[in-house]
Amino acid sequence: MTDTLESVVKVVTLDGPSGVGKGTMAQILAKDLGYHLLDSGAIYRLAALASIQQNISPEDEDKLVEMCTQLDITFDASDESKVQVILGGENVTSRIRNEDIAQRASLIAAIGPVRAALLQRQRDFAQEPGLVADGRDMGTVVFPEAPVKFYLTAAAQVRAQRRFDELQANGLDVEFNAILHEIQERDTRDSQRKVAPLKPADDAIVIDTSDLSIDAVKQEILSHLNKSVLA
Ligand code: DC
Repeated sequence: MTDTLESVVKVVTLDGPSGVGKGTMAQILAKDLGYHLLDSGAIYRLAALASIQQNISPEDEDKLVEMCTQLDITFDASDESKVQVILGGENVTSRIRNEDIAQRASLIAAIGPVRAALLQRQRDFAQEPGLVADGRDMGTVVFPEAPVKFYLTAAAQVRAQRRFDELQANGLDVEFNAILHEIQERDTRDSQRKVAPLKPADDAIVIDTSDLSIDAVKQEILSHLNKSVLA
């Protein structure tokens, strides 16, 4: 048997819908385990931002694919508290975190050749001593042989409420219904697309976080990891 990337380097996958808290959890786990972190959503968000900057229509597949093969991306993890995202030398960490970028990312992520063009970049993150990979298709497509896979889920209402609270706490004037609508729109697009749709891998451990605190989710994940091959 040929050794696959995921069996040589320990990969933990964390998939789920938007706003479920995967990003926070992936950061906590990567830090705890001393592993690298792949925020695959950030790669799609960078592609979305680059397409806007280069005036490429989300329907122009050929141009999008060409752009994706040339994307100049750096993740700078030197500041332990937050990974900085650099596109073409420019720090765009905050710029990619808005709803317009998220919607465009979701739109272009439905295009098969775009996903194919970004696949190897994501696999390259699997480096010693290990990787926590956060996204929609980490366990199904990017790292299908990963020894431990998690799928986090929560009711759309709960995810919208968490996002609403977070934005309000940051002083933003937001409307709950608008947030709920955006979450539902992305859920539908990400889970109904033909290529690499959002779904749990057959061998994923599914955790419904609707009634769980961040710490409770972390404990549940760690208890599975302790029992698994990572022990
Ligand atoms: O996780 P996120 O919200 O940053 O992701 C933004 C969009 O990128 C998401 O709505 C769909 C797309 N995406 C994807 O298709 N596959 C991934 N592995 C990660 C994100």
